[in-house]
Amino acid sequence: MKRLLAEREHARLGGGEKRITAQHKKGKMTARERVDLLLDEGSFEEYDMFVTHRTTDFGLGDEHYLSDGVITGHGTIAGRLVYVFSQDFTVFGGSLSETNAKKICKVMDQAMKVGAPLIGINDSGGARIQEGVRSLAGYASIFQRNIMASGVIPQISAIFGPCAGGAVYSPALTDFVVMAEKTSYMFVTGPKVVKTVTGETISEEDLGGASVHATKSGVTHFVGADEQEGILLIKKLLSYLPQNNLEEAPLSFCDDPPDRLVDELNTIIPEKPSIPYDVKDVIHAIADNGEFLEVQRQYARNIVTGFVTFNGISTGIVANQPNYLAGCLDNDASRKAARFVRFCDAFNIPIVTLVDVPGFLPGSAQEFNGIITNGAKLLFAYGEATVPKITVILRKAYGGAYCVMSSRHLRGDINYAWPSAEIAVMGPTGAIEVLYNRDLKASTSDEQRAAFVAEKETEYRDKFANPYEAARYGYIDDIIEPRNTRFRIIRALQTLATKKDSNPLKKHSTLPL
Ligand code: HXC
Repeated sequence: MKRLLAEREHARLGGGEKRITAQHKKGKMTARERVDLLLDEGSFEEYDMFVTHRTTDFGLGDEHYLSDGVITGHGTIAGRLVYVFSQDFTVFGGSLSETNAKKICKVMDQAMKVGAPLIGINDSGGARIQEGVRSLAGYASIFQRNIMASGVIPQISAIFGPCAGGAVYSPALTDFVVMAEKTSYMFVTGPKVVKTVTGETISEEDLGGASVHATKSGVTHFVGADEQEGILLIKKLLSYLPQNNLEEAPLSFCDDPPDRLVDELNTIIPEKPSIPYDVKDVIHAIADNGEFLEVQRQYARNIVTGFVTFNGISTGIVANQPNYLAGCLDNDASRKAARFVRFCDAFNIPIVTLVDVPGFLPGSAQEFNGIITNGAKLLFAYGEATVPKITVILRKAYGGAYCVMSSRHLRGDINYAWPSAEIAVMGPTGAIEVLYNRDLKASTSDEQRAAFVAEKETEYRDKFANPYEAARYGYIDDIIEPRNTRFRIIRALQTLATKKDSNPLKKHSTLPL
């Protein structure tokens, strides 16, 4: 008993007091402090505390630390089981050894067997250099498990320190990445190698800091001001997710009346179609208690993705954002939304889509970067999804973007439109130029041309800049008063709760990656 207590005490010290102090000085918590903050008090059951590495090369035969640089086990968050690993930077810089990888694989295997989410906290110098290929094999074993777990259990990665080289690929294979400002970075090749190979001088922060991955690459889904906030974000995120793909999305207690009318929505759409508004105002107004957990908030801001509850039902939201690039779909927005839709579908989370999209963003930059393939990803994701899909067209739904944004034709289950909806092949100005090109060329004066355009635009608007044409064909199930939107969405979600739909049997699709 005495020995057990002493050994445990020893293990809890990781790489020792000095290194713990150094970790704190950097503004970072230790691996154990992070686990303690993440899990419900007293719920952590640790595995493999007494594991040590087996290497004798490079003088390591004399240097052993219990746990070997990673803390693993399970516990609960808000009473729900999760598995966790947390790399300990105080032991060989949290580097991945053969035994350390085996510990991680053990909790991954068990998480899969019992169907519980996996949370990995990364803070590591990468492959343990002294172990060579055994360390690389360890990484590959983790990757394989990440792949098998994808779409079966939610996988969340926190990056709370360095994450470099091939090590980045485990987080990249998981569903959500959370970073902390200033103390975390991710890159495949660090500044030194970049300088040698390309001559570019760049800092760690500018190459792979939280801000870069939140705004430019889209690698991270959430950024905390510090680790504490990052951990809170993980807990919040989990509250919207089921334990695994066989469970329904969670249903939480709701004290916000489901039939609450939102009068301000009746006037939220500006008179002029070219004036923007913030679609997040709509989301906050209709969600339970105005709460919205936004995913990839700073990336591709022309589309908004995230989680809300409607009368307690966990729901994914996808919404075009007129406030940014007029809400056009572009490469980044298409990929961002496609990934989100696929996540929701994999984990039985219904999707509500709020549409106000003037089309795909035109231009050579978009075309050269593959808007054809990327737009197809979003189209594919919606068309393949079998969860309940509810669509509300708030204003513009033009061209291919109408089809893409969870239209009836992509198995949208319930498609509503506000009276302000405009559903057409394109906007009036473009349409008039195509349809009346010859008449416009024949105009004898600018005044005559302007009068002609105005007349034809009015005609076009009367015909298409409304939801009635689409409603006549049954492509829109109902035109609803904006203030009823919350109530109508909740009723739709309740109606669709027992929805069953499937895709043809196949090995897998050939999604245009
Ligand atoms: C063994 C390592 C290590 C590693 C750090 N340490 N990285 N030990 N293998 N990969 C040890 C250090 O020797 C040191 O030991 C302690 O961890 C802390 O490291 P410091 O350098 O003192 O810390 P810091 O100044 O904060 O710098 C952190 C760092 C740096 C930027 C991560 O340590 C570093 O550049 N490490 C190497 C990173 C790297 O190139 N890894 C391989 C990437 S390729 P002491 O005893 O002094 O405390 C890769 C391939 C994966 O990972 C492929 C998967 C497919």
